[in-house]
Amino acid sequence: MDITTQQATHPYSEADIGKTRLEPTYRVDLRPDGKDVFYDEPSIDWSALSWKQIGRPYRVERWSKEKLAWEKEHDQTLPVKTSWEMFNRAFQQMFDEDALAKRKEALAHLGKSLGTFHLHEAQEAFDEIVQATYWNQAHRIEDAIWDPRGKRALFSGLDVKKPEILFLGAADGYEAMQLLAMYPGGHAVLVDYDDYCRTHRFGQFPEAYPFLGVNPASGAPKVWYRDEMNIDFEVADIRDLTYGRQFDIVLSIGLLEHFPDEYKPWALEQHRRFVKPGGYVIMTTPRIQLRSKIFYTIFADVMNFAYRELMDVTHLGLYAYENGFEILRHGRIKAHNGVIARAR
Ligand SMILES: C[S@@+](CC[C@H](N)C(=O)[O-])C[C@H]1O[C@@H](n2cnc3c(N)ncnc32)[C@H](O)[C@@H]1O
Repeated sequence: MDITTQQATHPYSEADIGKTRLEPTYRVDLRPDGKDVFYDEPSIDWSALSWKQIGRPYRVERWSKEKLAWEKEHDQTLPVKTSWEMFNRAFQQMFDEDALAKRKEALAHLGKSLGTFHLHEAQEAFDEIVQATYWNQAHRIEDAIWDPRGKRALFSGLDVKKPEILFLGAADGYEAMQLLAMYPGGHAVLVDYDDYCRTHRFGQFPEAYPFLGVNPASGAPKVWYRDEMNIDFEVADIRDLTYGRQFDIVLSIGLLEHFPDEYKPWALEQHRRFVKPGGYVIMTTPRIQLRSKIFYTIFADVMNFAYRELMDVTHLGLYAYENGFEILRHGRIKAHNGVIARAR
């Protein structure tokens, strides 16, 4: 790689550790610690916790227009895999767009539509302004979706060296890259049955995005990039995987909440069956909080194609505990709950 290419694809170095910066479509955050990271919840006696005490998760039931139109046209429920294909394309479009430029464009469009009394178009422009404003705040300003500081805090302290990582329902693979930066020299297998994730969501993930991790030689903080990591993408249905219990870490981010209760034991078993004895299972699910409810309402057309729940960390922990996991750590990051668990 010549120096100019290197600067374009690897623009940050160890000299930037401690800094944060806004790019047009994401935040660079190389601050190693600070306040808004991971909140460990107080220790819980999971064996004494009951569903009666904590209630059930909240179901998101405001569906995307595209899903409803498909179901009307085909006179059947949207198949689950198709729902993920729609979700991945719609969601990725949000990551790709320059929210502030889009808002500026929508504002101009709103003015024009109002001036000519095109009220339907004005409504569409208004909805775009709300979406762009909220996305800019949630993803760029607060960085609540990738949440590198929260994820680093959640993933810290694992007893692994050069880990083999399996990411179930990997989408853009973000969290596997964060883990590989923190535990360098490892290898990750990203599994998703939507090929668009291989080609676009992960395939076109910004090469220049810096992940804060460690230098294995010195133990000092180091900036890592995706092209320095050993990652394979497997386009496959989780049900068809033939691996054994060979992974140090099995990971899913926003997967369990898509299974109604009768399928959760099966979904949790998909994590257990690939993890080495003593290895870690890491799961996160979206939090039940007012801002998440607002997010899934404003972004219903982008996000809500498939069954989805919002949970408290006690819900996530109790599902894992009841299905044979020991909870090593549980807490919350910006938009999600997180648990680090081990098969009992
Ligand atoms: C809600 S997304 C995960 C959220 C993700 N962090 C993101 O940024 O979109 C779940 C992912 O799991 C994939 N998925 C769902 N069921 C699957 C299955 N049975 N086999 C493989 N992939 C699956 C979907 O294609 C989707 O990309």
